[in-house]
Amino acid sequence: MGPGRLLPGLLLAIGAAARWAATPETVRPRVVREQLLWVSGEGRGGVHTFRVPLVVVTPGGALLACAEGRKRSAADVGAKVIACRHSPDGGGGGPWGGSGRCLGDPGSARRGARRGVAADDGSAGDGLSLGALAVAGGGTCCCSSPRCAHPPQACGPPSTHLLRSRDGGRSWGPPQNLSGVVGNEVFAPGPGYGIQKQRAPGRGRLVFCGHGTLERDGVSLLLSDDGGAALAAGGGALPAIPFGAPRHPRDFTPDECQPYELPDGSIAVNIRNQNFYRCRCRMVARSWDGGETLPPDAVTFDPALVDPAVAAGVLVTGGLVFFSNPAHESRRVNLTLRWSFTNGTTWWGRGLQVWAGPSGYSSMAAPPPGDQGDAPLLYLIYEKGRSLSTETVSLATISIAGDV
Ligand SMILES: *[C@@H]1O[C@H](CO)[C@@H](O)[C@H](O)[C@H]1NC(C)=O
Ligand SMILES: *[C@@H]1O[C@H](CO)[C@@H](O)[C@H](O)[C@H]1NC(C)=O
Ligand SMILES: *[C@@H]1O[C@H](CO)[C@@H](O)[C@H](O)[C@H]1NC(C)=O
Repeated sequence: MGPGRLLPGLLLAIGAAARWAATPETVRPRVVREQLLWVSGEGRGGVHTFRVPLVVVTPGGALLACAEGRKRSAADVGAKVIACRHSPDGGGGGPWGGSGRCLGDPGSARRGARRGVAADDGSAGDGLSLGALAVAGGGTCCCSSPRCAHPPQACGPPSTHLLRSRDGGRSWGPPQNLSGVVGNEVFAPGPGYGIQKQRAPGRGRLVFCGHGTLERDGVSLLLSDDGGAALAAGGGALPAIPFGAPRHPRDFTPDECQPYELPDGSIAVNIRNQNFYRCRCRMVARSWDGGETLPPDAVTFDPALVDPAVAAGVLVTGGLVFFSNPAHESRRVNLTLRWSFTNGTTWWGRGLQVWAGPSGYSSMAAPPPGDQGDAPLLYLIYEKGRSLSTETVSLATISIAGDV
């Protein structure tokens, strides 16, 4: 056998050694850094409580984190700002900047950007809520959030809005009212992120999952085949049963949701099981047609993912599915990261306890696969406190391989 035949084999072996692969031996997630991004109750910028944190990695590797700043109380209803911060070094420990304000009361744009506020709804009876971030081609970030989503509507008909940024979330364009697309039903995106499909069917499609509210609950998908320039309703829907009736304990009530794409090109949606139908655990829906349907006969319940009814994080990276939530049947405590080698059908061991104490909503992000190298990272943003989960918003940087 001549050297010409040996060489390709040799290169292949070197290539394989250098590329990190997820196995039970190599996956040892560990928190390598934790940064407090917002602290509630300090009255800074007129905000009472920060909640519903989101994070995405923007093109170029910067992190963009956003949260609701609830002005007067911790309640869901009320006037809010959408606070955003960005980390140019990808959460590397350098300073975080605030994103500029570009909308809200028109005077503020003329006065110049207020640091750290992407949107401000003044004194609205029930303002902008988060929401889902998405990074789609061309560096555009979309942040989609409902207004007047909490009945009884204190400030007019509910409407969902889309905010666009062309600079990784440093500045935002005026909000686009999506009522023409989603109608007057509440469509509360996420909380979490929208995905852009990497595989057929519907490769390149942007998919947001959202839910209705209380009596008219259920999840549905909003789709865009042009990177968010135009969004279309008509994606799959999974309504609550009974629909349009007061909720009872154990009713089927799919609520806050996070979509993710599996290696076979299907979309899975991990869903808050609001009234604990069948279990105090997560509900999972699937779509095999790019989000056009969410067939009820494909809905499953995952008893391993014990949940107190909360917005949870899901992320697919490095061939693994990660899941984060306060892993407890009834209380928002024990923020735990779980991982799956089997496309989310089973979960490895007991996971990693990130915070034993009060902890609530969470969401995750990771650099794109090409930027991950052999020390893959993920970012976990979550509500964290000592006596209440709403005291702070914290960002944990997690080394998947456990490297320092
Ligand atoms: C959004 O548009 C709908 C339909 O035109 C309207 O009823 C609603 O008031 C608008 N929302 C806002 C906040 O302007
Ligand atoms: C925290 O979550 C893990 C993983 O689900 C579980 O094994 C453990 O019992 C939980 N701890 C508490 C205090 O609930
Ligand atoms: C995950 O899904 C892919 C695509 O369908 C499949 O090839 C692979 O075998 C699955 N992994 C496991 C462990 O089931």
